[in-house]
Amino acid sequence: MKILVVGGGGREHAIIWKLRQNKSIGEIHCAPGNGGISDNAVCVPIKATDIDAMAAYAKQQRFDLVIVAPDDPLYMGMVDRLNEEGIRAFGPTARAAEIEGSKVYAKQLMKKYGIPAAGYEVFSDYQSACAYVESCEMPIVVKADGLALGKGVIICQSADEAKSALDNIMVKKVFGDAGNRVVIEEFLEGPEVSVLSFCDGKTILPMASAQDHKRICDGDQGPNTGGMGTFSPTPRYTGALKAEIEQTIIQRTLYALSMEDREFKGVIFFGLMLTKDGPRLLEYNARFGDPEAQVVLPRMKNDLLGVMNAVIDGRLEDITLEWDERSAVCVVMASGGYPGHYQKGIAIDGLERVSDDAIVFHAGTAKKNGCYVTNGGRVLGVTALGRDIGEAREKAYAEAAKISFDGVQYRKDIGIK
Ligand code: AMP
Ligand code: GLY
Repeated sequence: MKILVVGGGGREHAIIWKLRQNKSIGEIHCAPGNGGISDNAVCVPIKATDIDAMAAYAKQQRFDLVIVAPDDPLYMGMVDRLNEEGIRAFGPTARAAEIEGSKVYAKQLMKKYGIPAAGYEVFSDYQSACAYVESCEMPIVVKADGLALGKGVIICQSADEAKSALDNIMVKKVFGDAGNRVVIEEFLEGPEVSVLSFCDGKTILPMASAQDHKRICDGDQGPNTGGMGTFSPTPRYTGALKAEIEQTIIQRTLYALSMEDREFKGVIFFGLMLTKDGPRLLEYNARFGDPEAQVVLPRMKNDLLGVMNAVIDGRLEDITLEWDERSAVCVVMASGGYPGHYQKGIAIDGLERVSDDAIVFHAGTAKKNGCYVTNGGRVLGVTALGRDIGEAREKAYAEAAKISFDGVQYRKDIGIK
């Protein structure tokens, strides 16, 4: 059994770490991978978005399975292409991944099928969008339609802020064609929950819940990031609320996708907000979350390869997901300056001192002369399991404290909420 994982962050490291528990898997390759992944897999310098090169490499190496983990290659059609070439692949087709690739499409789907979500309007004309925000109550949320590296959502406190966001997205095109259209959405408030689920087009199996921390600073202050830490499970996601979400959001999405002839095989990530008026769906992602995967996969008892095969072959109804009762916390260690400008190539110290109490997932690292150096904004994710969130937190922070690099920053309040 020989597998290729496409991507090179903490999520991909977590996927490979989990796959490694299955001893029938021989070689794992990762493109492009990172410094830490190179200890568990053969890293190949192919960009995750280079569909031609990836397909050629997959054919040449005769992989039994290619797992496409990041959003852009999925939306660009990497799985479609691999399938055309006769290569077995895990992940949705471009048509199915549109639930993440186009916020306009996702919002239309939610509305058509009565999936509870924020009210919205769509604009492709800058002047009309500006006129509309003048009539809105503040705050309001402006979203670029397409993929924007997680930066395309702007919460605006005034009409002027909204117009400046619209100018950046629609006129200055800071996200390129992703800004040809915008969604302007009602502002919602409440705790957020991420529910990832495996879907084979006929059956959808939710995984354990998780909660991300998007802002850079403690107390949810400062700019948004890709995610500064996670915990799982989310204590609020139980009982009647869980049942309501499964019925009105998760199962209804499966129904919607099948009615729209967009068979989805892969992972659907539901980004939810628990408002005082009930749960609302903020967004879909067509993949594992990062750093959600770093807390959910360590708690999963099933063999990941077995579940992925069931997804591809449409056999999910035969699978029951099983979870470690313990809680997990992941603390992301980031470069100084992130999410703005940061330096790369800084030596990382102390990794060898981390005990078996924690798993260190590498995100933005490289290996230079046998040593690990920083190579991205989010550098490492330190995950620990514990009897409860509190114990998992303590362990994760105790182990993170052993690691250092110049400029390192991490939140001190992951899992406190
Ligand atoms: P999205 O990519 O749509 O999930 O948005 C990224 C983040 O922006 C979410 O995780 C929320 O924290 C925030 N957000 C998105 N939509 C809304 C909304 N309608 N009201 C308040 N916050 C939002
Ligand atoms: N952590 C949020 C995401 O992966 O999009």
